[in-house]
Amino acid sequence: MNKNIAVIRGDGIGPEIVGEAIAVLDAVAEKFGHSFTYTEAPMGGNAIDACGMPLPDESLAKCLASDSVLLGAVGGPKWDSQPSHNRPERGLLQLRSGMELFTNVRPARMFDVLSAACPLRADIAAKGIDFVVVRELIGGVYFGEHRTETVDGRQKATDIMAYAEHEVRRVAHVAFQMAQKRRGRVTSVDKANVLDTSRLWRRVVSEVAAEYPDVELIHMYVDNAAMQMVRDPSQFDVVVTENLFGDILSDEASQITGSIGMIPSSSLGEGTRGLYEPIHGSAPDIAGQDKANPIGTILAAAMMLRYSFDMAAEADAVERAVGETLKAGYRCGDIMDEGGILVGCREMGAQIRRRI
Ligand code: IPM
Ligand code: MG
Repeated sequence: MNKNIAVIRGDGIGPEIVGEAIAVLDAVAEKFGHSFTYTEAPMGGNAIDACGMPLPDESLAKCLASDSVLLGAVGGPKWDSQPSHNRPERGLLQLRSGMELFTNVRPARMFDVLSAACPLRADIAAKGIDFVVVRELIGGVYFGEHRTETVDGRQKATDIMAYAEHEVRRVAHVAFQMAQKRRGRVTSVDKANVLDTSRLWRRVVSEVAAEYPDVELIHMYVDNAAMQMVRDPSQFDVVVTENLFGDILSDEASQITGSIGMIPSSSLGEGTRGLYEPIHGSAPDIAGQDKANPIGTILAAAMMLRYSFDMAAEADAVERAVGETLKAGYRCGDIMDEGGILVGCREMGAQIRRRI
């Protein structure tokens, strides 16, 4: 198969980790007889430097014309003083909404060989961590009205959180369908004891649940969910929630698995074209030093193969190669443990590649 991949290398460690993911994709292409072509689409701080805006129209057009998009990470202290409408993160939000990617999937799975990196008590970790966070991605407070004004001589800021029924329904369907292929349990997270948007969320998710009698639905308040995630993460299978709660809970979910550097994510809309990225940031403090862990991005590339290109065997090969590399003892700094072989970004990529 021929696939056209738009590549956003981004800022900080972005170019390093994306370079390794592309090399892995090339190894897959060679082994399985595919051809992948890559189109560079600048986005983030580097795009602000080059053309004064975080997501140039041309980059969005390239992404929309591609079969899928691979992204490293964007942002860094260099652009912290930019006005909010012109920050690197704004480019990412514009890209998500421009591509209509309403579902973000972030798996939280602990690799057995990395259980030492899990910050939870051993008896809790021993019950296993294997769930996914399904996060609504283009609604809620992220995309509501934002305003800062001066009222009676004092500054006042407002961010509006809004949800329409159809925005809840479409992501709920994704969560239930995913649960059908997993362990059949959806935990819907909201703050229905306080927020109207959450009461709407709860009603619509319950309605959708009626179409999936084989899936168990549990409603949970977000504060409780944050607590349950460290008390007993084994209770979760598919967690579905709105944009801001999903942002926060997915970081928590990733950290309990050992390292945020290991977790990929997919963002999808109605079609098969998606955006695939690690969930970590651009780590400017270690940029350019060959220290970043490329595994999150490499696993994101595997998700692209599986979900956008329907290449299950190819995705399995990448995931297996990652598992074997870890089993062989190779570690980047973020997951280093006693007896591990400390390697940099490039060497980690090479070790994974040779196991494809
Ligand atoms: C994420 C990030 C982004 C978000 C930032 C960079 C805008 O934290 O993908 O989780 O808040 O969605
Ligand atoms: Mg986040």
